[in-house]
Amino acid sequence: MKYYRFLLPAFLLLSIIGRAQTKLSSFSPGAIWPDDKGVHINAHGGGILYNNGVYYWFGEHKIAGDAGNRAMVGVHCYSSKDLYNWKDEGISLSVSPDTTNDIAKGCILERPKVVYNKKTKKYVMWFHLELLGKGYSAARAGVAISDKVTGPYKFIKSYRPNPGQMPFYPALTPEADKVNCVNPANKSDGFFCRDLPGGQMARDMTVFVDDDGKAYHVFSSEENFTLDLAELTPDYTGHNGKFIRIYIGHQTEAPALFKRNGIYYMIGSGCTGWAPNAARWFSAKSIWGPWTYHGNPCQGPDSQITYGGQSTHVLPVAGKKDAFIFIADKWTPKDAIDGRYLWLPINFKGNDIEINWTDNWNLDVFKK
Ligand code: GAL
Repeated sequence: MKYYRFLLPAFLLLSIIGRAQTKLSSFSPGAIWPDDKGVHINAHGGGILYNNGVYYWFGEHKIAGDAGNRAMVGVHCYSSKDLYNWKDEGISLSVSPDTTNDIAKGCILERPKVVYNKKTKKYVMWFHLELLGKGYSAARAGVAISDKVTGPYKFIKSYRPNPGQMPFYPALTPEADKVNCVNPANKSDGFFCRDLPGGQMARDMTVFVDDDGKAYHVFSSEENFTLDLAELTPDYTGHNGKFIRIYIGHQTEAPALFKRNGIYYMIGSGCTGWAPNAARWFSAKSIWGPWTYHGNPCQGPDSQITYGGQSTHVLPVAGKKDAFIFIADKWTPKDAIDGRYLWLPINFKGNDIEINWTDNWNLDVFKK
C-alpha cells in the first residue's frame, strides 16, 4: 500500500519529464512550442543567428497579462541544431533596475536582432527602444554587445540614427524624389525634415549582414510612414550616415531581409499595431535600391491578415539551397506571453516569392 502512494506522483513526474523531452521533428505554426524544459518559447519579435553550426533565437521575453508587452525581463535566447528543438539559454540582455537607465525595467524593448562581426569578434544586438514611461515617443535604436553569443550582452547606447544626414541618392534617383526641406513635398518628407537635426525615428527593425561583411539596419521611421535602410559602421555598433528611404509614405513595419541569387528581398507588414494585416514584399538588385514593391506574398485563406501574424525574420536554412523560412509573430497583446510563432517555408517562382499556409511541415520541403 505504501508503494502505491508514491506510484501516482512518480508516474506524473515521469510523464511531465517525458513530454518535455519529446523530440520535435516538424513545425506546427501557431501551436504552443515547448523548449527543452517543456515551456512555451518566450522570444517574440525575434531573429535568428546561425553561428558555428548552431542557431540562436533571440526575442522579447514577455510576461503574462497586457503589461507583458513592456520589457520586464529582457531579451531571451534559445539555441538549436535542428530548428525544431530549442534549448533555453536564458536572458542574454537584462533590463536595468535603475529607472534612469535607457533600458530601465518597464521600458519597451522590441524586435532584437543579433549579428556577428568577424573583424571585432563581437556579437552585436540591435533593438527598438522606447524609454520608460514615454509610450512610443522616443523611437530609438538601441545596441548592446557581447563576446559570447548567448550573452550577457552589455548595453552601449540608444539614439535616433543619422542626425543631420540627407539620404543617399543612387545615380538614377529622379530629381523630384529628393527631399526638399525648404518645402517638403508630403507628410513623410515633413517628418523627415522635422527630425533631421536630432536623428530619424527608429521603430520596427531588422539587421542584415551582406556577403561582403557590411551590415545594414532597416527600420520604420518618419512616424512609421517610411522605412530607412542604413549602413552600419564597420564594427556594427553605429550608423555611418549612409541611408536610403524605402516606399515613402506607405507605412511599412516589421521588416525582414534576405538575399538569394544576388537579389535582395524584404518582407514587411502594414501598420495596424498588434492586429494583423497583409504582408508586403519588395526586391532590389542593389541593397541601395531601387526597391520594387510587389504586394502580398501570402496566398489562400487568411492571406490578407498574414494568417494572423506579422513578419519578424526570414531565416536562410544552413546547407540547403533556396531554403528560407518566413517567421512571424501571432501577437496576443492581452496575454503577451502566449504569443505564437508562425514559421512557413518561402516558395520561389522564378525570382518571385509565395507563402502558403500549412498546419505542419518539416525541412524536407526544401531541396538539398
Ligand atoms: C506593431 C509592431 C510591434 C509593436 C506593436 C505595438 O505594429 O510591429 O513591434 O511595436 O506595433 O503596438
